[in-house]
Amino acid sequence: MNLNLTEEQLAVRDAARDFAQNVLKPGVIERDRDQRFPAEEVKQLGELGFMGMMVDPKYGGSGMDTVSYVLAMEEISKVDASTSVCMSVNNSLVCYGLQEFGTEAQKEKFLVPLASGQKIGAFCLSEPEAGSDATSQRTTAVDMGDHYLLNGTKNWITNGNSASTYLVIAQTDPEKGHRGINALIVERDMPGFQIGAKEDKLGIRGSDTHTLMFQDVKVPKENRIGEDGFGFKFAMKTLSGGRIGIAAQALGIASGAMELAIAYSKERKAFGKEIHKHQAIAFKLADMATQIEAARLLTLKSAALKDAGENYDLASSMAKLYASEVAMKQTVEAVQVHGGYGYVKEYHVERLMRDAKITQIYEGTSEVQKIVISRSVLAD
Ligand code: CAA
Repeated sequence: MNLNLTEEQLAVRDAARDFAQNVLKPGVIERDRDQRFPAEEVKQLGELGFMGMMVDPKYGGSGMDTVSYVLAMEEISKVDASTSVCMSVNNSLVCYGLQEFGTEAQKEKFLVPLASGQKIGAFCLSEPEAGSDATSQRTTAVDMGDHYLLNGTKNWITNGNSASTYLVIAQTDPEKGHRGINALIVERDMPGFQIGAKEDKLGIRGSDTHTLMFQDVKVPKENRIGEDGFGFKFAMKTLSGGRIGIAAQALGIASGAMELAIAYSKERKAFGKEIHKHQAIAFKLADMATQIEAARLLTLKSAALKDAGENYDLASSMAKLYASEVAMKQTVEAVQVHGGYGYVKEYHVERLMRDAKITQIYEGTSEVQKIVISRSVLAD
């Protein structure tokens, strides 16, 4: 793996850093406090080409590689993980899923507005009783000839109220188990589709997480992605890439917290000297830097494998598992470095600590990643 970033990749990273520091940072504490979705900020991200980064320009995207996407996600997540999860779901799950598996007509109709940032997408897999156990879909999509009749409830859906296009996973033929599941494109204005309550969350409070209800929603057959019964594999393949995005998000949360801890340790004096001159603090910073670099390398490796057209299922699960564990551990440490100041909102690290937790839960818990990894290392 070439560890040198190209000039183009560095330019993407710098543009994302500028945007995060100058546009996202000023209002991030208030958006977190008020649980306000960053609608205007996401619109600007779309104008910069960050909502369809890896999509072919002929479908409205920016035609960038996955490594660039990781770099951008890290910079945005250093400041505002609520914005970066919206960006990640739109890029990794919705745009990728449509570009890779959609028909030409689906790409024209749905991918172009999503990749160009005019619309936002959502990925709807989780249910009240199907989180980690994703094959146990209770939402049904009954085949009615020219359309599916969709009924059920989806939970914890990122971009739930801000999206226009929803990729919904549902069971068509229960006898076939996971091979009887389909992925359908649902439009916001389809009769019978209702957006339920917004979740009041510990972290990523600016992100828009909702329950969605479907009651006799008629979804035309041409809105099915792939062959009949491809829905579960569609979800797994899509989530495999999604885990690169969440690994990058966790990496950004951790490195954002480290930058704040380093800066604070140079300003704050205790016992007659700046606190970084005490080994108790310096060693914490050394552990942070080492673990964050390891998380970065795993994340970039998974992105590089994807860019090279090689299998990245194992690498993306490892990256997501490790980066999210580092994010949780090291944001707690960053709060500790700040002492009492770390516990108040003005210093940003308490938000990063709250935001870190979700990276161990969504797009597959740490335990789900360990299932994927252990199966892979134990396979013949
Ligand atoms: N690519 C292609 N196919 C895959 C695959 C992959 N990466 N992973 C599994 N499959 C296929 C298998 O080959 C198998 O197919 P066959 O029977 O035809 O061979 C089929 O899918 C079933 O696979 P498993 O037997 O491995 O399935 P399982 O029931 O044991 O579950 C699991 C495996 C890894 C736990 C899976 O259920 C899983 O990933 N669960 C977590 C789901 C998840 O990540 N949810 C997140 C919701 S989205 C979200 O969070 C977005 C957001 O808001 C930010």
